[in-house]
Amino acid sequence: MKKLILTCLMILSVWGFVSAQSKLGTETEEQKKERMSWWTQNRFGMFIHWGIYALPARHEWVKNQERITNEDYQKYFNHFDPDLYNPKEWAKKAKQAGMKYAVITTKHHDGFCLFDSKYTDYKATNTPAGRDLIKEFVDAFRTEGLKVGFYYSLIDWHHPDFTIDQNHPQRPNDPKEYDKLNKGRDMNVYREYLHNQVRELLTNYGKIDIIWLDFSYPGENGKGEKDWDSKKLLAMVRKLQPGIIVNDRLNLSDYEDGWDFITPEQYKVTKWPEVNGRKVPWETCQTFSGSWGYYRDEYTWKDTKQLLVLLIESVSKGGNLLLNVGPTARGDFDWRADRSLASIGQWMSHNSRSIYGCTQAPEEFEVPEHSILTYNPETNRLYIHLVDYPLQNFRLPNYKGKIKYAQFLHDGSEVKITERYGHGTKEAENENDINLSLPVTKPNYEIPVIELFLK
Ligand code: GLC
Repeated sequence: MKKLILTCLMILSVWGFVSAQSKLGTETEEQKKERMSWWTQNRFGMFIHWGIYALPARHEWVKNQERITNEDYQKYFNHFDPDLYNPKEWAKKAKQAGMKYAVITTKHHDGFCLFDSKYTDYKATNTPAGRDLIKEFVDAFRTEGLKVGFYYSLIDWHHPDFTIDQNHPQRPNDPKEYDKLNKGRDMNVYREYLHNQVRELLTNYGKIDIIWLDFSYPGENGKGEKDWDSKKLLAMVRKLQPGIIVNDRLNLSDYEDGWDFITPEQYKVTKWPEVNGRKVPWETCQTFSGSWGYYRDEYTWKDTKQLLVLLIESVSKGGNLLLNVGPTARGDFDWRADRSLASIGQWMSHNSRSIYGCTQAPEEFEVPEHSILTYNPETNRLYIHLVDYPLQNFRLPNYKGKIKYAQFLHDGSEVKITERYGHGTKEAENENDINLSLPVTKPNYEIPVIELFLK
């Protein structure tokens, strides 16, 4: 009996392993790496959450949180008049901050479309905005040389056939009520709508570099692969835009190629994430404050140092950062977002070499005190980010014999490799350490960077 159970367990685990490894397409690991290489090199993008939820200005989930009906939500549609919308400005700001790509919400969970879709009237063209806002966005960002991505919500709280589930604004308090409420709603109709809209987005706007489909929550009164027909949807996406990069929220994580990168949201990973023992491409998406959509009265804004650490740390673990802006109802960026973007830009203007093309440092390099390392494998340079600026002596543990030259990244000034000096008792030193002699005054960058040319 014991033997039988063990055999069954073995079969199950082998089957689990095999199913976790199964594939939908034929792309090789190498080909995938190549397809994604611009993205892994660029490391830093802008997320943009914009829609009619910018009018209530209290979270893009306001319709859900306050259980607002379509009728009551309609006032935001009727008053959507973004007279200050100038995506050229947005693109310039993204570029100045050092971002290389942008992903915009073409439709969010409330179902409102910023683009001109022939399958709905619930779109920007029918608001006072009176035009396809996505088209202008795409043109402006391309002109600035930024890659363009579309976020599209799988969820839709406006469509009459999207069944009411646990996340729906009209969810019942009593779970027994779902069936009654969903009488007459047909997910087949909604599914077709969803596929049609994704087809429009990937057909009518030229080359699209990224698609962000959001999100699945399988289980009772949830939605997942079957509801979206994720396999068919993904096949269409890849067919229409062969080079496109796809996020991981279609509920296809059992397939090696059911997604291209994983998306830790609003938290810092502790190490380079792995799936089935393999390090995978990843991008953390993060807000400046607690909300994705414009939230007037939200005050938990991260400061420049926190934002820079987020970016540097992501790269140091082999990942990307997608940092979100929630433009206002009038169509421009909130002053706090502008301020943060500008200060990131000030740092990036002289330090981005430690970001672009960089990744996790080889294991042989220990992380010196209060610092974060990144590494460029092409140039064989190691970057030490001085998160807490040290006093004059800065010890690089076990770096002896590994360095050709050291300089500050922001101004290319030499950082001398010296004997450790000072008065009093000489600390016991490891003879394999080396010492850098830093100026007492911290350079005028939030997080100064030392560039090491390795042997
Ligand atoms: C979540 C939220 C959503 C936001 C997204 C960004 O899925 O539902 O509001 O757009 O995360 O990652």
